[in-house]
Amino acid sequence: QTAITYQPQQLICLDTSGYIARVINQTDADYAAVRQAAQANATLTTLRPDQYVLPGFIDLHIHAPQWPNAGLALDRPLNEWLDTYTFPLEAKYQDLDFAKLVYNDLVQELLANGTTTALYFGTIHNAANLELAKACIKHGQRGFIGKVAMDNPEQTPDYYQDASAQVAVDQTEQFIQQVGELNQTTDLKQTPVITPRFVPSCTPASLQGLGDLARKYDLPVQSHCSESDWENGYALEHYQMRDADVLDHYGLLTNKAVMAHGTQLNDHDYELFAKQGVAIAHCPISNVYFGNAVLPVKRVLAHHVKTGLGTDISGGYSPSLYQNIRQAVMSSRLLQDGVDNQLPTNQRGVSDSAISVKTAFYLATLGGAKSLHLQTGKIAAGYLADLQVVSLKNAFQADDADNIFEKLMYQTSQAEIEQVYVRGERVK
Ligand code: GUN
Ligand code: FE
Repeated sequence: QTAITYQPQQLICLDTSGYIARVINQTDADYAAVRQAAQANATLTTLRPDQYVLPGFIDLHIHAPQWPNAGLALDRPLNEWLDTYTFPLEAKYQDLDFAKLVYNDLVQELLANGTTTALYFGTIHNAANLELAKACIKHGQRGFIGKVAMDNPEQTPDYYQDASAQVAVDQTEQFIQQVGELNQTTDLKQTPVITPRFVPSCTPASLQGLGDLARKYDLPVQSHCSESDWENGYALEHYQMRDADVLDHYGLLTNKAVMAHGTQLNDHDYELFAKQGVAIAHCPISNVYFGNAVLPVKRVLAHHVKTGLGTDISGGYSPSLYQNIRQAVMSSRLLQDGVDNQLPTNQRGVSDSAISVKTAFYLATLGGAKSLHLQTGKIAAGYLADLQVVSLKNAFQADDADNIFEKLMYQTSQAEIEQVYVRGERVK
């Protein structure tokens, strides 16, 4: 996860179905001929010397309905934050006009930030969830979208819950069918995702029913797992099992499952995830506020657990994966060096925890792609043409490729993301 290759003046050749057919280097024999031919038939797009092509990013965990709250109430503990800020907002999506307004804005915001694929939590409302799928199609983003299932009357408010386990499961199945119908109208397929909110929000019956659907339809699953001390403790108290083991018991830890946060997972859980092919969505900004720990990314990757990067809006305040790349690096450095300045340096923190910006970039690209079984996240033949063209901000000196890459990761804001492509279609 540390090898980034940089090729100057490369030709990226796309086929008509949105894949990269070939990449041609300046040193390749037919470089000049292919370039000339493309120029002649007006299919050549050229870039300025300060522009760079990167793979599009994959946001592996985001709550679409929470976009209006991004930046709000980050000082509350998780369950208080859910009750006070999050559930009242999510309940508003029975209003379809509100849903359309927010979802169209969010999808465009993410694309403008270079996010070409996103794994979304919606709300309990299928009509609104369908609006999110339509917004993805309209603006050209690859969406993975979940109808949120939450039927536990003890942990969900009366005004925002599935009326029963049967309703949670039936509505999930209905959404799977509705997305299937919508997909008949587009080449940019959207994927329905089985989405138990997290163990505390669900009853054993809904977890069972959703696990059955995961098997029946072979679809992705998403949830939160061991995000906070509170959540971790809830599973132990109510099921006498670890949070991950509860989800596994109900058939929800498949090799298409993506579990958000995982800050409280232990080595036993990592081994379970690795064995079943379960991925972790690392949400480094959100974890500062709600995670009660830093995800030890190096340790997770050493256990061969698939890992990607998520914004977790609005647990995280930023829609940008660049910001999350930076936070992933910063948090890992704090984990390594600790914070108690009264201890000698060699006794602070957890040794060998710091990750490089290249590893964080890997999470935002290939790591997320592998978690979703997508052939994207890399500029190479056979990969989807999900790309972003970014300009380097502070280019005053002749930097080498590694330095340019590092500066791009730290200096890129929306203004520098000049073009974005999904399946070869320009979307920004
Ligand atoms: N756990 C259950 N629901 C949520 C949510 O909306 N955000 C976060 N960060 N954690 C959760
Ligand atoms: Fe979340």
